[in-house]
Amino acid sequence: MITTVTLNPAIDKVCATQGLRLGNVNRMESVTNIAGGKGVNVAKILRQYGYEVAALGFIAGYSGAFVADYLRTIGVATDFIAVSGETRVSTNIIGADGYTTEILEPGPKIEEEELAAFLAGFAEWLPKSELVVLSGSVPQGVGAHIYAELTDTVNASGKKAIVDTSDELLVNAAGKKPYMIKPNLAELEYMVGRRLKGLDAAVEAIRGLVDSGIGHVLLSLGEKGVLYAKEGAKEVLYAKPPKLKALNTIGCGDSVVASFCISQLEGHDMEETLRRAVAISATAASLPGIAESDKEKAEELYKDIEVRAIT
Ligand SMILES: Nc1ncnc2c1ncn2[C@@H]1O[C@H](COP(=O)(O)OP(=O)(O)OP(=O)(O)O)[C@@H](O)[C@H]1O
Ligand SMILES: [Mg+2]
Repeated sequence: MITTVTLNPAIDKVCATQGLRLGNVNRMESVTNIAGGKGVNVAKILRQYGYEVAALGFIAGYSGAFVADYLRTIGVATDFIAVSGETRVSTNIIGADGYTTEILEPGPKIEEEELAAFLAGFAEWLPKSELVVLSGSVPQGVGAHIYAELTDTVNASGKKAIVDTSDELLVNAAGKKPYMIKPNLAELEYMVGRRLKGLDAAVEAIRGLVDSGIGHVLLSLGEKGVLYAKEGAKEVLYAKPPKLKALNTIGCGDSVVASFCISQLEGHDMEETLRRAVAISATAASLPGIAESDKEKAEELYKDIEVRAIT
């Protein structure tokens, strides 16, 4: 069982219109509602590959019920704490004029007893979980040490914590030495407190993180691919996706995380773990949906991905 934590899920509402005009009636030509949030995306991909997944976190109101219902329809075991208010709807209005407008809601505020209920539920799922994915932003009322605290709990139980978040949430969690982190370049720069120009600077930075006690660091670099440093490995590995037409790169980072989980369960070595992560995430980029996969397409790409060792 892989347990995913999404403290701040969302409905990603994607609307298409000719153009948005402030102060006017704006009619949408199409609207799609997608259950989202980083942990939800990881769960979606893992289910497409047939793995057993549980999804934990907070949901609120009708939009929260939509997210949890969707996860259940794809076979995810859900155990969300229901709180008052409404789960966020993140509205993305795509205009034919080329402009995209995003409208982001604050989401519910979590009370102390609700957080305590979540922590109690988390402790119950932990013995059943081989891997625990902690990802995304957090709602109001949840502090910047939450993933650090959860990482501690996971480590203490001998399980593996996989962390994908940003800013102080990431810095604090990294201090507790999770099993794996998956920053992108901006997140890594925040962690090390400096700009990283070029591959060599990034390699040095992720080596430093592994030396500090983090088991695996997968640095995702968008269309440039992924750098992978692992505790005890002499070389840092780098792999680049083939050139492809990207249709939707939202959630591609989540597919790197999902792929890493699969490789852990399947016992893949470092090279195969990296090649698969690049193949699955590049496939996700080439598909129009969010956190979508296509096993056959990923298999095709996998064959063409070359891994370079950096000593
Ligand atoms: N345009 C692209 N072409 C091919 N592969 C891509 C492209 N964009 C992303 N990918 C693949 O997806 C991986 C993750 O993407 P990225 O580094 O943008 O993640 P991210 O910034 O964490 O995004 P998010 O948090 O929205 O999921 C990349 O390392 C790469 O393998
Ligand atoms: Mg990301």
